[in-house]
Amino acid sequence: MPENFDYKEAPDVRMLGGDGGPEPSRRGFLFWLGLSLNVVVGTLVALPIIGYVFASFRRDKWQAWIDLVPATIDSYPKGQTRLAQYRNPAKFDVTWDGYTADIPCWVRHESNGKLTVFAINCTHLGCPVRWFPESNLFMCPCHGGVYYADGSHAAGPPPRGLYTYKIDQDALTKGRVRIMGGRLPTLQEPT
Ligand code: FES
Repeated sequence: MPENFDYKEAPDVRMLGGDGGPEPSRRGFLFWLGLSLNVVVGTLVALPIIGYVFASFRRDKWQAWIDLVPATIDSYPKGQTRLAQYRNPAKFDVTWDGYTADIPCWVRHESNGKLTVFAINCTHLGCPVRWFPESNLFMCPCHGGVYYADGSHAAGPPPRGLYTYKIDQDALTKGRVRIMGGRLPTLQEPT
């Protein structure tokens, strides 16, 4: 310990105002104020990161069987591909999400009765693809991605064919088109 050490200047004594010590100083007050602000800022920064990490555990809860609009199979004539939509079951609140919770998709009803519901998002970077009955192709306006009528990749940068939704086969036998909605597929989905 240095000979000329001044105990009155020791930060712990001055900050905590220990027995026999001086009253808490302005330096002590600023120390605790700074510490508190750091805790508040650290919490605000950490919360979204923690939410992001743990959100993946809730992913399955966002999924649900949901009717397409329109839902009747008669709305999709055989041999045609029609635009439909569904209300995303992962919505927060009607007033919060508004129309953004209405998710469009393409429904293909083949002549042999097979029904396929395609996600509207291009598998390259997610732009909405359009169906062109004249050429029997889906085309993406962003970078020229092209898909065949069955959704398989035809040309351009997309790494795979269009994503498809699971269809509720029980509801289909009763003439209703229901799909498993709530989560947009990613490149990790099986082809
Ligand atoms: S987003 Fe469709 S080709 Fe790039």
